[in-house]
Amino acid sequence: MQQQDIGAVKNRGAYYTPKPISDFLVKWGLENEKQPFDILEPSCGDGIFLRSLTESLTLKMNYNTRILAVEMDRNEAKKARIEVKTLKKIPKITINVATSEYFGYMRGRSKRAKRQFDLILGNPPYIKQSKFRKGRKKALLRMNELNLQINQQSNAWVYFVIDTISRMSSNSRIGLVIPSDILQLDYAKKVQNWITTNLNNILIIGFDELVFPNIQQDVVLLLGEKRDDSKGKRLGLISVKDSSKLDNDLWDKFIKSKQPTELENVDWDLQYLSDNELSAIKKISSNSRFHAFGDIADVKIGIVTGANKFFCVNKERLTDLNLRRGFNKGLVVRKLIGKGIKIRGVEYRTSDHEKNHSKNQSTNLLDFNPTFDRTKLSEELQKYLALGEKLLYHKRNQLKRRNPWYSSEHVLATQIGMYKRSNDYCKLILKPDEIYSTDTLYRVLLSDDYIENITPKQLVFNFVNSLTYLFCEMKGRSYGGGVLELTPKEIRSLKIPLYRCTDEEFSKLDEMFRKDTSIDEILNYTDGIVLKFLTDSEKKVLRNCWCKLKDRRNNRSKRGN
Ligand SMILES: C[S@@+](CC[C@H](N)C(=O)[O-])C[C@H]1O[C@@H](n2cnc3c(N)ncnc32)[C@H](O)[C@@H]1O
Repeated sequence: MQQQDIGAVKNRGAYYTPKPISDFLVKWGLENEKQPFDILEPSCGDGIFLRSLTESLTLKMNYNTRILAVEMDRNEAKKARIEVKTLKKIPKITINVATSEYFGYMRGRSKRAKRQFDLILGNPPYIKQSKFRKGRKKALLRMNELNLQINQQSNAWVYFVIDTISRMSSNSRIGLVIPSDILQLDYAKKVQNWITTNLNNILIIGFDELVFPNIQQDVVLLLGEKRDDSKGKRLGLISVKDSSKLDNDLWDKFIKSKQPTELENVDWDLQYLSDNELSAIKKISSNSRFHAFGDIADVKIGIVTGANKFFCVNKERLTDLNLRRGFNKGLVVRKLIGKGIKIRGVEYRTSDHEKNHSKNQSTNLLDFNPTFDRTKLSEELQKYLALGEKLLYHKRNQLKRRNPWYSSEHVLATQIGMYKRSNDYCKLILKPDEIYSTDTLYRVLLSDDYIENITPKQLVFNFVNSLTYLFCEMKGRSYGGGVLELTPKEIRSLKIPLYRCTDEEFSKLDEMFRKDTSIDEILNYTDGIVLKFLTDSEKKVLRNCWCKLKDRRNNRSKRGN
């Protein structure tokens, strides 16, 4: 099957399913022996699912089957009709490939609008909301009919998934190829809820390698089953290397390994862990020696300058502007951890800062005094502000509401910082409180109730352990590139032990990070201290689960998602 040109991909969401995947989903979908058997393919493209169906159904001559396939592109629908020529000759099979926009076709008072299906197969179009024109209004009307408020940012595939599930008969299956966004994006939560509310058994199959060549779209397979006789629900996530590893045993193994439960408010991404692992984590983390991070400390975003390039400057720029560090006429030059500064240890010392400053990194924040008369600033600074205005910084959203536009807001420093995004693991950073940070670092402040119990240094030490790292993966999210990001709210929900480390223990940890010691070795060291009250096997479960979730996230980045 030829991959379609880029225009078609963007406007019609037309990336076509590789045959091993359609074969796998068709074979699994036809396990049901119900008669007659109604099948729907809502956006059939050039008909790969129809080809797989043809191959399977010609072997089952007595299968009383009705197939409806829809495709809005005339040429593709024509190709799809060729795929079903053989099937059409079988008396017990009726088949209709409609050239039409799906949501319009399924509307109205016609019989087909009320039709229910025993098997739904397909790969709905991936079309960004801004390009989703044909059919969007009707899709929204359908969501209204189903009483669902859909996020305006939703991609076209979201509407297809919701609509097709609503058309499933009482004992039926759905097998779809969908973007892995289902596990990630905020707007996907609505679809997750719809799936868990309407289906009984749900298996998501991810791939370690990209399965759509030439397109950096990471996909998963959704295998869903609706059953009358089911007590409780099952949700499982598994990963296979590539489409050659798809095997019908995967479903049976999933059904055997997962106990039916309640699926309300379940975190989908966590289902990569087994039931046993999830219950072990629950038990271990309920130990009263762990505290909610939000009880111990508060987390606030760093300084939002509104134009880092302008306000965060290096040594050379200071010289050009004839400024010295500290107090100047009309502004203070403050010490700053600016963009691009790498902090290797868990402590950012004044000596590290001085090194970065001499290497001409972004180590200075220009903090203008808003009440100082602009005309009395040095000539260099007046020119610099005029340059900022020429570059239209004063018109930026963040800056235009400030008075004057070049004044800073919330210039406060804390002794603990934390990077908003990280690749492998998060860490807190101890720093002198006269060193400020922009919004790449969160500001962490011990809460009044804990000031007596723990020092900033000890909190930084406690953060490095398998349980807190596991919670970072469980609570955080990974956007493009597989980078882990935690919001202040998510950080507050982390669990952390409270051990009062000694200065020597802290220095050793800092040294280990600075020397690029492997994270496994570092965790062996800290777990042995801060998680001393857990058994070895408990510590092992935590570490394994952390690795599983982290590796899964990192794999996503390798695949370019
Ligand atoms: C991702 S492709 C999948 C095609 C085929 N199901 C497959 O798996 O290879 C999506 C197809 O949906 C079609 N499409 C996009 N929007 C549609 C709509 N509103 N109604 C019907 N078809 C649509 C596109 O033309 C494209 O052929």
